[in-house]
Amino acid sequence: MKPVTDQTLAQLAQEHGTPLWVYDAATIRARIAQLAQFDTVRFAQKANSNIHLLALMREAGVHVDAVSLGEIERALQAGFTPAQTNGAAGLVFTCDLFDRATLARVAAAKIEVNCGSVDMLRQLGPVSPGHRVWLRINPGYGHGHSNKTNTGGENSKHGIWHEELPEALAVIRAHGLHLVGLHMHIGSGVDYSHLETVCGTMVDLVKNMGHDLEAISTGGGLSVPYREGEQPVDTDHYFQLWDAARKQIEAHLGHPVHLEIEPGRFLVADAGLLVAEVRATKQMGGNHFTLLDTGFNELMRPAMYGSYHEMSVIAHDGRALDAQRATVVGGPLCESGDVFTQRDGGVVETRLLPAAQVGDYVVFEGAGAYGASMSSNYNSRPHAAEYLVDGEHSRLIRRRQTVAELIALEQL
Ligand code: LLP
Repeated sequence: MKPVTDQTLAQLAQEHGTPLWVYDAATIRARIAQLAQFDTVRFAQKANSNIHLLALMREAGVHVDAVSLGEIERALQAGFTPAQTNGAAGLVFTCDLFDRATLARVAAAKIEVNCGSVDMLRQLGPVSPGHRVWLRINPGYGHGHSNKTNTGGENSKHGIWHEELPEALAVIRAHGLHLVGLHMHIGSGVDYSHLETVCGTMVDLVKNMGHDLEAISTGGGLSVPYREGEQPVDTDHYFQLWDAARKQIEAHLGHPVHLEIEPGRFLVADAGLLVAEVRATKQMGGNHFTLLDTGFNELMRPAMYGSYHEMSVIAHDGRALDAQRATVVGGPLCESGDVFTQRDGGVVETRLLPAAQVGDYVVFEGAGAYGASMSSNYNSRPHAAEYLVDGEHSRLIRRRQTVAELIALEQL
């Protein structure tokens, strides 16, 4: 269901132009509340790193994760601090490597680091003795909504291989680093039938490692319903399984253990919409094409993973719309693969939609996660604007990039 009415969307599109990202603050706050049982909800901002949304989350008690220097600076701008807040660092840096600039920044600002390689420990230890670190463990298996979002197993580059845990601990001891906890993120859009196995692996790892810790993190990966009729994740069940694992770990260690969750898409996916305008229609043999003023430079998920997004049509003139089978494509990009109705592997499909004409709007749902944050300037298309609907505080939270800004860095 769209969190913002068609009337508001049409008004915003007229006022701010298209393509336009529109987010609903109330939906984000509702998703945060659903995870309140966890000691810490740490937002994986790669899903959406707009500073205004980060600040909204901070005000709602959420902590944040960053995966780059840019994301670190965004978090700091949004008011997060590396210091401990309510039992956990306000900001954690997670990665599988350090580039030199980021290593210097996290060492200077004392930002907790979730290390996905032993080399990160070897590089951090000498420059920042006593630094607080997590170990991101690859348990040897993973799951995801696509092969591209599976982050576990031996074909994934992510995390410290579970058999390397003793070596990682030896490096921690050698450099006097401070181990905060173990972290496991096995993929995005995970299949919950395996959750008990995942929790069991975490318990076994802690029991066997012979080293104390303060916290465990479940990682993210909570799936969201992209298609009508798909069931949302049962967050109570998810918490109960992890809480049971935490209790076993506490019994083993003899003290309380902090339980973190690190969702990205769950907090923002269904809060976000992408509004585009129909700029052309074409009949190509038996195929009807609807061409929009957006493409995979904005919403990359269909081209990248064959991801499905619900679409709806708003008539610009209020006329009643008949249904029609259409292939919905990005208009501006010179790429045959710029098709919003495709399956994984690039198989082009049609969708039964209200018949859209030039001037109508097409709205993509479930676009709040990995939408704007994955968008690019391909074909020298400027970044689209972002708007937040939040009662009387509704406002533009990112203005549209200009073409002059787009070419400025090359004017040496
Ligand atoms: N924690 C870590 C260490 C991660 O690598 C990720 C996602 C998350 C948390 C958050 O996962 P989420 O809760 O959002 O599923 N671009 C893809 C998703 C890539 C996710 C990468 N890592 C997509 O559009 O589906």
